[in-house]
Amino acid sequence: MTEQPPPGENTRAVHLPPSPMPHQAPLGTPVWRSATFAFETSQEYADVLGDRVPGYTYSRVDNPTSDGFAAAVAALEGVRVGGVTGQAFASGMAAITAVLMTFTHAGAHVVAPAAAYGGTYGLLSELLSRFGVRTDFVDMTDPATVRAAIRPETRIVWAETLANPTMAVADLPALAEAAHEAGALLVVDSTFATPVVCRPLEHGADLVIHSATKYIGGHSDATGGVVVGRTGVMAPVRGVRIHTGGMLAPDEAFLLRRGLETLPLRVRRQCDTAALVAAAAARHPAVARVDYPGLPGHPGRETARRLFDAGPEGTRFGAVVTITPHGGAQAGMALADGLRLAKVATSLGGTHTLAGHIASTTHRQMDARALAAAGIDPGAVRFSIGLEDADDLIHDVNNALTALGRIGVQDGALNS
Ligand SMILES: Cc1ncc(COP(=O)(O)O)c(C=O)c1O
Repeated sequence: MTEQPPPGENTRAVHLPPSPMPHQAPLGTPVWRSATFAFETSQEYADVLGDRVPGYTYSRVDNPTSDGFAAAVAALEGVRVGGVTGQAFASGMAAITAVLMTFTHAGAHVVAPAAAYGGTYGLLSELLSRFGVRTDFVDMTDPATVRAAIRPETRIVWAETLANPTMAVADLPALAEAAHEAGALLVVDSTFATPVVCRPLEHGADLVIHSATKYIGGHSDATGGVVVGRTGVMAPVRGVRIHTGGMLAPDEAFLLRRGLETLPLRVRRQCDTAALVAAAAARHPAVARVDYPGLPGHPGRETARRLFDAGPEGTRFGAVVTITPHGGAQAGMALADGLRLAKVATSLGGTHTLAGHIASTTHRQMDARALAAAGIDPGAVRFSIGLEDADDLIHDVNNALTALGRIGVQDGALNS
C-alpha cells in the first residue's frame, strides 16, 4: 500500500470533523437533518437495514427527530394504555393513506362517516375504490346503522372523534364493540379532539390518527401526520410508510414536537373561547344553526360528556364551531367574507381564528346529496377558534352576521 498523500481541498471540505455528540440530554429537540447514516462495517449496515439491530440507515425509513415526535404523541395518547407506539408522516393524508393501505386489499370493505373530512372521503370514494376497496359512508353517530353496514369483508370502521365539520361526536365504545365483533379495526381520526379532549385508545379504538398540521403543531407553520396504537397493530404500518414514502421530515418534526409542549394550554383556552363564540352566535337572529357539542340540544353533548376530558372549566367540547346563517351558500360565503379578525383560510387548530365556507372548500369533493347525508348545510361556515380574546372574536362574528341582513343575503334575496 502506498502512503496516502494529504487530502485535497475538496476532500477536506467534504470530510469535515463530525459535530460533537453530547452525553447530556438536550432540553430542546435536536434536528437530525441527515438523509443517510454511515456505518463502520457492511455487516452493521445490513443488520440495521434488515431490522435485526436497532439504528438508523436512511431518513425515509427512520429518522430520530421524526420518530421522537411520533413517540411523544404515543405517550400522550397512551398515557393510560400500555405499549402504545407511533409512526410519523409527512401529512395527515399520508397517515390516513398508509393506514388504509395497510389494512385493506382488493375486495375489502370500509365503513366510514358520511360526515368525514373531505380528503378522507375523496381518498376512499375516488382513489381506493379504483383498487377494489369498497366504502359505505354512514351516520356514525348511530351504532345500529354502523352495525347494519358491517359485512364479513369489513376490515375497518373509520370514525372521527369530532366530525369535520358537523362536530358530531362518535360513540367510540359502541363503535369499537361493533367493529371488533366483526373482526374489523376501529380507526379514529382524532385531529379535532387532540389527546387534551379525548384519547380514543382508552375507549376501544385500535389506531388513532392526527393531522399534526392542526392543533399539535398549533401555529400553522408545519405539515405532518401521526398514527399511534398498540405495538402489535402498529407493526405493519411502518412497512407501508416506507414503501409509500410518506415519512415526516425532521425540520417539521421539530416544530410539531415543540407544539406538543403547549398543546394542553392552547387547546383548553381554545375550547373555552369556542364555547363562548358558539353561544353568542346561537343568539344572533341571522343564524339558522350552530353546530357545537357544548351547546344544549347538540345531539353529541351527552356522548361528549361521557368520553371527553373535563377540567375546572367543565367538559372540553373542542374548538371548532360551525355556523350556518339563513340564506344558503351565498350567505355562508358572505359571512366568511365579512369577517375582519378571523381569516378566510384553510386548515384549523392554529393560534389564528380561521373561517371557511365548507361546501365550496374543505368538502368540495361532496355533491349535494353527500352534503345532505353528512348533515352539512350549503351555507355552513366552519370556524377554527384561535387564541384571540373571546370578546374580540364575538364582536367580529356578530358584525359579519349583522351585515348579512344589510346586504340582503339573509332573506335569500341574493340567493334567488
Ligand atoms: C379531520 C382531518 N383529518 C385529516 C386531515 C388531513 O390532514 P393534512 O392536511 O395534514 O394532510 C384534515 C385536514 O384538514 C382534517 O381536518
